[in-house]
Amino acid sequence: MLNDAYPYYLGSEPLFANQDLAVHDKFSGELATRVALADANAIDLAIRAAQKAQPAMAALAAYERRDILLDCVQRFEQRAEELAQALCIEAGKPIKDARGEVTRLIDTFRVAAEEAVRIDGEALTLDIGPRARGYRGYTRRVPVGVCSFISPFNFPLNLAAHKVAPAIAAGCPFILKPASLTPVGALLIGEVLAATALPKGAFSILPCHRDGADLFTTDERLKLLSFTGSPDVGWALKARAGKKKVVLELGGNAACVVDADADLDDALERILFGAFYQSGQSCIGVQRIYVHHTLYATFRDRLVEKTRALRSGDPRDEDTFIGPMITEDEAKRLESWIRAAEAEGATLLCGGTRDGAMLAPTLLENVPAGCAVRDEEAFGPVAVLAPFEDFEAMLDEVNDSRYGLQAGIFTRDLYRAQLAWERLEVGGVVIGDVPSWRVDNMPYGGVKDSGLGREGVRWAIQDMTEERLLVIRTPGV
Ligand code: SIN
Repeated sequence: MLNDAYPYYLGSEPLFANQDLAVHDKFSGELATRVALADANAIDLAIRAAQKAQPAMAALAAYERRDILLDCVQRFEQRAEELAQALCIEAGKPIKDARGEVTRLIDTFRVAAEEAVRIDGEALTLDIGPRARGYRGYTRRVPVGVCSFISPFNFPLNLAAHKVAPAIAAGCPFILKPASLTPVGALLIGEVLAATALPKGAFSILPCHRDGADLFTTDERLKLLSFTGSPDVGWALKARAGKKKVVLELGGNAACVVDADADLDDALERILFGAFYQSGQSCIGVQRIYVHHTLYATFRDRLVEKTRALRSGDPRDEDTFIGPMITEDEAKRLESWIRAAEAEGATLLCGGTRDGAMLAPTLLENVPAGCAVRDEEAFGPVAVLAPFEDFEAMLDEVNDSRYGLQAGIFTRDLYRAQLAWERLEVGGVVIGDVPSWRVDNMPYGGVKDSGLGREGVRWAIQDMTEERLLVIRTPGV
């Protein structure tokens, strides 16, 4: 159950400024709650409060930042089921996936607590010639200043956490705009942060519509913009971000390869999961499946059978695997991509039907290049299959995409594994599993249209800090 209304957080304080943002249960379509909606004035006040809090945030000792993050971990653990139920309602996320996301939220904050006490510098050799004799250099990392965060609807807790927790570890105040479709997860994080020893004003969490959120991108008082969401929006924001650092975690059409030596049962189970968990609404969901031609027919038939057996329905039901897509419009968009692929000669193997926001898990084969369902980010329960003969040519095919986030390769051949790691134009290669595999302390991000920079707590902290050099001259040595 959600509360009747939620405040936004401005300068660390909850404010029931209005109830202008309606949040719906994504399965039933009913009104679930109302949330305070921020305008440009509130965003401006939040930036001022964050700037004022900056010295206090920067002055926190490493152990204090760690302890604040551990305090959050404890509070999230106590409220784990409540958080999962909130995700289930506001995002339509099947309850098992929702509980998994809460576990990851806790991991992300715990990793940030650990990293907070190891943000180290370096001792530098500066005496590279006679004129530098007696000079030594040292670096340490200092917080960049106020950060601007925009998080997406598909992981309302954990993808907000991937910005918030490193910011606390680094000593940066921040303002966060959660997705308007799923603001409650971030506001629950706000409720937890407000109960900690964070300096007053250090954070604001402000749901707002995209057209009222310009300051998140353009305001020069903000020193870093970290955005997770769709590629088109992300790159457009970067073009307007001015002098601030920009980190973009965008989409993809992730490929998964099953080579001739793969354990078929294992690959089938993992690909079924990777393609359809949380209804395919993950940037690293399996979208393109390439199977060695000797296994192809068996793999395809068994995957179709398993896909047909997936249980769709109410995300609150413990047995549900496929829930609704985030909106009916999104489901219609993907349904139209399936129809367009069929019109181009693709074969529908299963699924392809829609009931409101519920799109049946769908597999297609013989999908020609140029079809959106193969070339663009599907972001829903749809995957395309194709056989391959030559491993190296198939790697080129995987690279034949404007995206490059993660790729998965089922092979037991060390040489081929290394070749894939060498050749694939992606942020990460996963051997023996799907591209959808992620744990929250690993570097995560993409190349090409999939993004810029890396998240994963340690890498986010790097972005949220910069090096400050100290040079010491000791005359006479
Ligand atoms: C994403 O969809 O961008 C993140 C996927 C994940 O964290 O597992």
